Amino acid sequence: MTAPDSTSPRPRTGNDRFLRALRREPVDRTPVWLMRQAGRYLPEYRATRAQAGSFLALAKNPELACEVTLQPLRRFPLDAAILFSDILTVPDAMGLGLYFVEGEGPKFERPLRNAADIDRLAVPDMGSDLRYVMDAVGTIRRELDGSVPLIGFSGSPWTLACYMVEGGGSKDFSKVKALALNDPRAMHKLLDVVTDAVIAYLDAQRVSGAQAMQVFDTWGGVLSPRMYREFSLRYLQRIAAELPRGDGETHAPLILFGKGNDPYLEELATCGAEAVGVDWTVELGEAARRIGGRVAVQGNLDPATLYAEPEAIRREVGHALDSYRDGNGGSREGHIFNLGHGLSPDMQPDHVAALVDAVHELSAR
Ligand code: CP3
Repeated sequence: MTAPDSTSPRPRTGNDRFLRALRREPVDRTPVWLMRQAGRYLPEYRATRAQAGSFLALAKNPELACEVTLQPLRRFPLDAAILFSDILTVPDAMGLGLYFVEGEGPKFERPLRNAADIDRLAVPDMGSDLRYVMDAVGTIRRELDGSVPLIGFSGSPWTLACYMVEGGGSKDFSKVKALALNDPRAMHKLLDVVTDAVIAYLDAQRVSGAQAMQVFDTWGGVLSPRMYREFSLRYLQRIAAELPRGDGETHAPLILFGKGNDPYLEELATCGAEAVGVDWTVELGEAARRIGGRVAVQGNLDPATLYAEPEAIRREVGHALDSYRDGNGGSREGHIFNLGHGLSPDMQPDHVAALVDAVHELSAR
């Protein structure tokens, strides 16, 4: 036997369960990845963040962003990697000046205060202002070396607009809702330019190597149904219609995740995206039944389940898997297992391990 030489092609050991499930093709086990799978609950993440100096310095350094992207994959047999970055890179690149205050979350130095601020906004240049994100995507893709697919992401236009107008996180969304009601034309102008930016951002990530794309509509669920359709859904539909996905082997599906999107599942399933991600306030089987095999379904364990003991985690994973199957005509296909929202810093890595193992064991075909 001869030693493998470095010029021979590497064996294709790639795990494509995640991409197959997005296409609703048969898989040996239900694929699983977790929102915020890279983050403060991992001691190695905290060490790399300390090395970088801050969260933003970490996100803006492609080598270190790659390192923290890979950390959860070294611990757990996850079926996908997600780019380590943030949704607020886009408004930052639009000139709003993103910064973080320890314990208070994200803030903008120059939030949008009036229609004139909105008029001045332009789509940022992906090759310069957001070059660090594209470099991270390319670096991660290279390091993954085909082992698992890489997910790129963006915030939804509405969710980004919330942070841009509020100037940071909010409890009542008073400023952004008042703007939408007082000056809907300005609000639509804002959502339009942000939608153009989101499309350009996701397209650049795909061209740089992202193999699937997720839009996080974290705050769509705070809107009344009429306002949701006008200020959030309409722009998700535009992204689904206009975002290029690539052809053949390089086709990168689009996942629309939204907190509190349960009332709109039928509309989300028919807007042209390849998958809908749901939170834990809807029974997964009901979501599957209403989505009706039109697109893949991602979700939806309550993240707080991870505070329970491994036996309880395993039981809840089993309920979610079976619920999906029962709502999907008896088939487990077309399901990507995930939490209904992100992991929290005080969660235990060994509980995450129990979750990932339970998904694979209990869903084996
Ligand atoms: O999922 C992943 O592993 C990929 C990385 C990722 C981060 N943020 C890393 C991050 C993703 C996909 C996001 C998306 C994001 N960012 C959303 C949408 C998803 C959601 O959670 O609803 C939102 C609303 C943001 C805005 C934002 N960025 C918030 C609210 C915070 C938390 C602030 C805090 O102190 O809790 C961030 C910072 C952030 N983004 C962290 C991480 C790991 C924590 C920063 C740190 O290390 O201190």
